[in-house]
Amino acid sequence: MKLIICLLIFISSLMANENDEFTGSEIIEKRMISMQSLNKLMSQARINIQENKLNSETIDIFKKIQHILYDYPSLFPDNSFVGKTKASQDIVSNRDEFNSIAKEYEDNAKLIIELIESEDSAAVNKSFQNLYSYCKSCHSRFRN
Ligand code: HEC
Repeated sequence: MKLIICLLIFISSLMANENDEFTGSEIIEKRMISMQSLNKLMSQARINIQENKLNSETIDIFKKIQHILYDYPSLFPDNSFVGKTKASQDIVSNRDEFNSIAKEYEDNAKLIIELIESEDSAAVNKSFQNLYSYCKSCHSRFRN
């Protein structure tokens, strides 16, 4: 009986490893799609802000942006740094730093929603420009 249990544990751990590798490449694909969506949403937001459309459509764009950044750090498990990825391995040993850039970005997207709601277009413009600095600081630190 003990032997069977040991064997089962052994087999299931093998299967878990296989799954991990599979998730690795799938998750890389997933985070690329996230960043591409983020890029598109930012372009849409820029157009809307230039046209001074401080409405519910623009708020929805920032909600989506916020959501992407909220999920983003979970898309970097330890085994996802091989293959078709430009993510730096540094993320693994500096998760706090990586997560906090994502969180600051997310918080700023949230702030912009509040500024849109209070129709403060000067502040919306300023905070929006500020959002781009997070793309740069994260990429220069954590993207090869
Ligand atoms: C918290 C960190 C972080 C922030 C903030 C961030 N990025 Fe990225 N981005 C990454 C990492 C890491 C990669 C590489 C992921 C990979 O290749 O596995 C990446 C990849 C990309 C890619 C390439 C996607 C592909 O097809 O391979 C684009 C485009 C991109 N980011 C755009 C942006 C834009 C635009 C912003 C800001 C509006 C932004 N990113 C903010 C970390 C970040």
